[in-house]
Amino acid sequence: MIPLQVHYDSPTMKRVASGILPVIAVDRKLPKPLHKQIYDAFRTAIVDGRLHPGQRIPSTRVLASELGVSRFPVLNAYSQLLAEGYFKSRVGAGTVVSSSLLDQFMPSPPVRKRLTALRSGLRPVARRCSNLPHLESTPWLRGWGAFGVGQVAFEQFPLQIWSRLVARRCRSMDAKSFHYGEQIGSKALRETIAAYLRTARSLHCEAEQVMIVSGSQQALEISARVLLDSGTRVWIEEPGYRLARAVFALTGCQLVPVPVDKEGLDVAAGIKRCRKARAALVTPSHQFPLGVTMSASRRFQLLEWAQAMGSWIIEDDYDSEYRYESLPIASLQGIDANARVIYIGTFSKVLFPSLRLGYVVIPTDLVDRFLTIRRSMDLGPPTFFQDVLTDFIAEGHFARHIRRMRVLYRERRSVLVENIRKEFGSMVEVLGSEAGMHLTVTLPNRSRDVEIAECAARQNLRLWPLSPCYLSKPAHPGFILGFGSTPVAEIPRAVRKFRNLLTQK
Ligand SMILES: Cc1ncc(COP(=O)(O)O)c(C=O)c1O
Repeated sequence: MIPLQVHYDSPTMKRVASGILPVIAVDRKLPKPLHKQIYDAFRTAIVDGRLHPGQRIPSTRVLASELGVSRFPVLNAYSQLLAEGYFKSRVGAGTVVSSSLLDQFMPSPPVRKRLTALRSGLRPVARRCSNLPHLESTPWLRGWGAFGVGQVAFEQFPLQIWSRLVARRCRSMDAKSFHYGEQIGSKALRETIAAYLRTARSLHCEAEQVMIVSGSQQALEISARVLLDSGTRVWIEEPGYRLARAVFALTGCQLVPVPVDKEGLDVAAGIKRCRKARAALVTPSHQFPLGVTMSASRRFQLLEWAQAMGSWIIEDDYDSEYRYESLPIASLQGIDANARVIYIGTFSKVLFPSLRLGYVVIPTDLVDRFLTIRRSMDLGPPTFFQDVLTDFIAEGHFARHIRRMRVLYRERRSVLVENIRKEFGSMVEVLGSEAGMHLTVTLPNRSRDVEIAECAARQNLRLWPLSPCYLSKPAHPGFILGFGSTPVAEIPRAVRKFRNLLTQK
């Protein structure tokens, strides 16, 4: 089990960089003696705030060797800096910049002024930068806490097995492992994923069509760049996933919000609004955020529309591994006879999001285009964790983990629904609890969900407001509640806290 404390403490823990060499130049031709040049360089770096209190200073031997001078001037300079209190010597820890200088030598006003001056004048940036809201305005996305969306039961992750696989892969690293990997992703992982998708998600795919990416977000970005031009129109679910919307907005696409009802995306409404859209972005297995599963008739309608109009369907299948009320349903890609679907999956929910691994299944004729575009963005995914993940899946740990988590999340979900019913009665409606790691509660119209979410974040409740998931007005207020990281025992208290917040507002 991972101690919870580690998670909370790490952002505030002070890290002292080890002896990285500061930029120090000495010039033998100058009349100033070498020791004085070294002394001045360190002193100025400390006073300017380039070297911070507690930061490690290289040993005299290392610095002398780097500067190509004898050790004497370095020893001389260090002893003066120690004597004047700029440096401090710690037994066993080498020499560091003194912490007691903190107040006296924090970047002084002239330095601050210089930093500000650097930011003055014309500093043009692309117009698209202001197309999206600032991250500062979304405190519910930051930090750990009850109801955090996308947070997994990290204490239940089979860390011992994972560590063993990591160590084993580490031990077997050779020259090849140090070089660039395949840009499309490791063959072994692509084969493993293709087999998994054919079996568990009924996809029609071979390893050649699978590209490994750093999560769904990169898959969306690559898909948008390959398929869409600036100005092309794209159906997006209303309400929908904001980060996906952001990708298309940044590509310069015109977003066409298409309502979602109890059967998923309303295809007829989409056709009425914009028949000629180039693509539709959908989450058919577990619509984000309302949680509906797209009905079979809507799936066929959508595929028919795409074929008739020569359009693309981007299927974001982000959490379909966890279904509680029914068996997993086949993917859209699996019933598509015309290779119109780009299928996106991720390990963020089923394993953990910091892994940053996902995949996109590409129609065969588009694989080269996807590769060309991807090459302009990065030179392929990091190889090491692809190898570890391949082992994890191939040795059966992945399937076992999914089975265990399904039981665990089902229980967390049931306790959450029960407690919401108990605390709120008919005040809120619960949606989409049949699958995934989150559910949605809707509030009476005109409730101020964003304001409440900001307040909740200050009390360590990570409520995602529903209204920002709408592109057009009226936006329905509510909250998306993750239950992945909230243990059963903590749920009643968290729901009570949530109710108190809601009734105070
Ligand atoms: C609809 C949807 N798609 C994808 C993701 C996962 O994105 P990524 O794979 O980039 O972590 C999420 C995460 O919350 C999501 O809600």
